[in-house]
Amino acid sequence: MRSKLQSLGRAAAAATLAGLLAVALAAPAANAQEIALGLRVFKQKAVCSLCHGWAGDGDYAMDNPGPALRPAKLDKAGIMETIRCGRPGTNMPYHFRNAYTNDPATSCYGMTEAAIGDQKPNPTRAFLSEAEIGAVADYVIAWILGRGAPTLEECEFYFGAGAASCNKYRN
Ligand code: HEC
Repeated sequence: MRSKLQSLGRAAAAATLAGLLAVALAAPAANAQEIALGLRVFKQKAVCSLCHGWAGDGDYAMDNPGPALRPAKLDKAGIMETIRCGRPGTNMPYHFRNAYTNDPATSCYGMTEAAIGDQKPNPTRAFLSEAEIGAVADYVIAWILGRGAPTLEECEFYFGAGAASCNKYRN
């Protein structure tokens, strides 16, 4: 009985240690599933690429350009707020359905709908959940922020291995 208890105790301690290790290892980088969700949001759901380019490098596909995101100096919270609330008075749309209501709890940049007036940005074509906003921010951090010129690796991650869209990065 006693040894059974002891081994249960050891098993519990081992499980706790494994849990702590998993948290420690997972903390610095978002996991692959999170990044995959972020990519789907960037590419298909919110189509951030329309304004920022697939690579977020300012090589735009259309006449509604956003800035290059690669040099942006924002942490995850700052990126999430930009996505959630858009940028007042610019083409950066807001992606949180309840942004700029008159409820101070969901205000953006501390502004209610009344306060922002005609500076309120446009809504996105597809509102995002908080989880999707976090995932797309993680995607931007992992694959766009602080990078130089786009590479074949980045292009194939975005369009798929062997994609013809990436021919210009192949020699
Ligand atoms: C309709 C065009 C448009 C779409 C769609 C769009 N953006 Fe933007 N975005 C902009 C513009 C324009 C700015 C610059 C705003 C400003 O001048 O402050 C911007 C700014 C940003 C910034 C801040 C950059 C910086 O240096 O401060 C981030 C981050 C960003 N966008 C991410 C995204 C993400 C992620 C999505 C998709 C969820 C997205 N944007 C969708 C137009 C767009």
